[in-house]
Amino acid sequence: MKKYLIANWKCNLTKSELLTYFKAFETLKTDITLSFAIPTIFLMKAKELTSLPILAQDMEAFKYGSHTGRTSYEHLLDNHIDGVILGHSEQRVFNDNTNEIINEKVKVALNQHLKVYLCCGESLDVYEQGDTKAFIKNQLDIALKDVDLTQYKDQLVIAYEPIWAIGTGKIPTNEIIDEIAQYIKDTYHVDVLYGGSVNENNIKTLKTIKSINGFLIGSASINPQTFLEIICNYN
Ligand code: PGA
Repeated sequence: MKKYLIANWKCNLTKSELLTYFKAFETLKTDITLSFAIPTIFLMKAKELTSLPILAQDMEAFKYGSHTGRTSYEHLLDNHIDGVILGHSEQRVFNDNTNEIINEKVKVALNQHLKVYLCCGESLDVYEQGDTKAFIKNQLDIALKDVDLTQYKDQLVIAYEPIWAIGTGKIPTNEIIDEIAQYIKDTYHVDVLYGGSVNENNIKTLKTIKSINGFLIGSASINPQTFLEIICNYN
């Protein structure tokens, strides 16, 4: 089974920290697929600093245009960026990424040979009402409309990230994560990650969840030593 650890720096770190960050991974040997989703302004520099896969944290589905402040898929391709996180809950909330917009982005990214990490996840309300599966299915059915899942099986990964678990220290039980991840796998037949408050300690028990292929890690990936510890504890 393929194993992934995706670092999502979000809007963190400085240029000088970027320079030292990747030094920490230079001699690392691991079978885990590591990738780093980093701020747009660092993407080009990171490609010079490391041969590890570099991801954008979002992109636009158009090539060029009058869209102040945006980064298009063409900019990612032009700079040899390896892939992109799409549908992160923070993009959904702060940048109005609807399921329909995410669907356009997913189709373009896959068609352009970018690796896609598609996020889904429910709010605390939905979770407490027991509607998680239906909510996620709706998100993913729209985000993956007209996507040939057989063709893109190796290029698309789905990350289950309950919104209420992101940055909060709260995590669903292993049984619940396993149930939801298995449901996603049975429905869409792609690898599935879990994200939300994963750290160097709880990975030791989270890694026992059978249906999970890896983890999407936010705050615990910002410090390279902590992320290395996570890698070590996941091995
Ligand atoms: P967190 O973030 O690990 O800080 O909870 C995860 C994410 O948002 O991808």
